[in-house]
Amino acid sequence: MSDTHQVNDLISIEMEGDTALIRIDNPPVNATGQVVRQGLDEAVARLDADAAVKAIAIYGAGRTFVAGADIKEFGKPPQPPALPEVYDRIEACETPVVTVMHGTALGGGLELALATHARVGIDGLRVGLPEVALGLLPGAGGTQRLPRLTGIPFALDACLSGRHVPAQEALEAGVIDRLEAGEPRDVALKTAQDAASGVLKTRRTGDLEVTPDEAALRETEEKLRQTQPLLFSPHKIVECIRVASETPLAEGLKFERAAFMECMDTPQRAGLIHAFFGERAVSNIPEAKGEARPIDKVGIIGGGTMGSGIATACLLAGLPVRMVEVAQEGLDRGIATITGNIDGAVKRGKLPADKRDATLAMLEPSLQMEDLADVDLVVEAVFEDMDVKKEIFGKLDKICKPGAIMASNTSYLDVNEIAAATSRPADVLGLHFFSPAHVMRLLEIVVADKTAPDVVATGFALAKRLKKVGVRAGVCDGFIGNRILSHYGKEAAYLVLDGASPQQVDSALEGFGFAMGPHKVGDLAGLDIGWANRKRKADNRDPNERYAGAVADRICEQGWFGRKTGKGYYVYEGKDVRPNPDVAPIIERERQEAGITPREFTDQEIVDRYMTAMISEAARVVEDGIAKRPLDVDMVLLFGYGFPRFRGGPLHYADTIGAAELVRRIEGYAQEDPHYWQVPDILRRMAADGTTFADMNKGA
Ligand code: 3HC
Repeated sequence: MSDTHQVNDLISIEMEGDTALIRIDNPPVNATGQVVRQGLDEAVARLDADAAVKAIAIYGAGRTFVAGADIKEFGKPPQPPALPEVYDRIEACETPVVTVMHGTALGGGLELALATHARVGIDGLRVGLPEVALGLLPGAGGTQRLPRLTGIPFALDACLSGRHVPAQEALEAGVIDRLEAGEPRDVALKTAQDAASGVLKTRRTGDLEVTPDEAALRETEEKLRQTQPLLFSPHKIVECIRVASETPLAEGLKFERAAFMECMDTPQRAGLIHAFFGERAVSNIPEAKGEARPIDKVGIIGGGTMGSGIATACLLAGLPVRMVEVAQEGLDRGIATITGNIDGAVKRGKLPADKRDATLAMLEPSLQMEDLADVDLVVEAVFEDMDVKKEIFGKLDKICKPGAIMASNTSYLDVNEIAAATSRPADVLGLHFFSPAHVMRLLEIVVADKTAPDVVATGFALAKRLKKVGVRAGVCDGFIGNRILSHYGKEAAYLVLDGASPQQVDSALEGFGFAMGPHKVGDLAGLDIGWANRKRKADNRDPNERYAGAVADRICEQGWFGRKTGKGYYVYEGKDVRPNPDVAPIIERERQEAGITPREFTDQEIVDRYMTAMISEAARVVEDGIAKRPLDVDMVLLFGYGFPRFRGGPLHYADTIGAAELVRRIEGYAQEDPHYWQVPDILRRMAADGTTFADMNKGA
């Protein structure tokens, strides 16, 4: 006979003979918020004090065991009992306490299991300590107990990569003691009975010794110094694991706690947690939640890099693709690119090798636009020319079946104008992918004036299916990302004209955390793209605006388009990359022509100017309603433009500077160039009333 009672709203105890099952029921992911901590603490204390209870098993209700501490509590005053204290008390219990895990046992969830006396996984389980991705370290015993079970190399890898370790590997590494099939409650009962009878061996993790491994620690420290010099928590993780190998558990736990609190106080933690919630919040808008149209087959027009990348992304998500090109040569090139992409996905472990052929078989190449008659969604990915796009959409209007969605992958052009080339503008939207489209996670979902709500919802559903971060954007030149890029890209050019070298600009911004500086990015993307764009806009250039394209134009005129031609701002020879010596004289000539006396910039000045330019345009994008919320801008820059994740995005970063200081900076820079440097109204208002972009995110 079982008898169940609630300890509190989220924790219940079920007695089955002389064993007790503690169930954690805190949807959606059983995070260990205050009520869970309190309930667990009480439940375990009560059961441990009851001599009739021979073993206790903890398990989770719903789709997963515990996914960690409640991240929403971070940054707020801590509410007792603290997680490490609860876990220490569980470990100290006289009665055997065991854990049964299903789904994903992460962070504080896995740490709970590590503090119990044995661990059982249910098939499909993944375990991990992903705190590093939030700028933290495992702060409830993970850095101290995991190495005791697995040894130092595995613990270093788990804590520093944050990866979700599959059950079998966790078993082999010693994280779990058994792997079983079944419902969590049933497995929990069996496990508790086995623990009570001694069939399942139980022991305190804290009683185990860590096998020293100085070489692994040294090697990791050295590697981190090279690869992650800017991040705080990875270095602290290694320190904690080192301490685990040198001191008894109690001391190690104290050290870990202090290090955890240090991490908690860093702006990196705030930036990374903003990124975590932002990634999920982008689709948390009513438009994304409406009913989507079913998409069973996708048509793609254009087999160039973009078209092939989009096709690859669809194929990898199991969506059949019909790809149309105008000539056999283009089609062959597209097929070759897609084949290469799919082979690459197999090599990187993104696609099982035995699925390769079936995945490629879902691609149907065609030279006839008429073959798009049965697809549910068409993505046009030809070059950026309004007349060409209008012609294509005019044709699609006649070919596509009723209800089919027609999308343009344009990165700048007016989606309203493209939609007007059809008789069904409600079915048209922009789906702006980023190259390489099967790798980059951003998808701008560009909503035109007449786009139907279910077409927008379909855009979001597609993003989810392709495992991308879909962000809603309004129509303007460049939407969210490229509009902001055009603006801060000019500042990079002004800095060079005024005295910095392209290499100094790049290295200053890499020092800020960008993976690549803007000149390296330009070389990678192809300098000809910006050149074509400047030529397109040449007739409408504002005569009051200082022209930023002079140096880049001269470079392109030499036929140097960056990596693909072997030369741009840098020279590329195999793996060797060095500054292009022929660029400095070009810069010099342009300075002379413009009558500029070059001056010196510190790296900090470069970062301040560049970031202030980015923030200014990002603020205007919010003010104009092109982005609904500041966080949408932040996610665009993080997932599409290499913005350092630990800084959260330009508007999250802007809050760390403050609107008043930003206004002061812009007004200072405006003394030199009042046309480029204008204080956005929104920033001025924020400076006056002391509000932040975070307030706007909360209010939206
Ligand atoms: N705290 C609070 N909320 C959480 C959470 C957590 N730890 N983990 C997930 N959520 C929320 C999400 O924000 C989302 O909320 P929403 O529906 O309102 O948007 C909801 O739970 C579902 O999450 P996902 O959309 O991400 O669902 P998935 O099924 O795609 O993924 C998951 C599930 C793998 C568990 C994923 O959510 C995840 O990776 N979560 C974070 C895990 C993590 O980082 N844990 C460590 C926390 S720090 C810690 O434990 C400190 C300790 O060492 C002291």
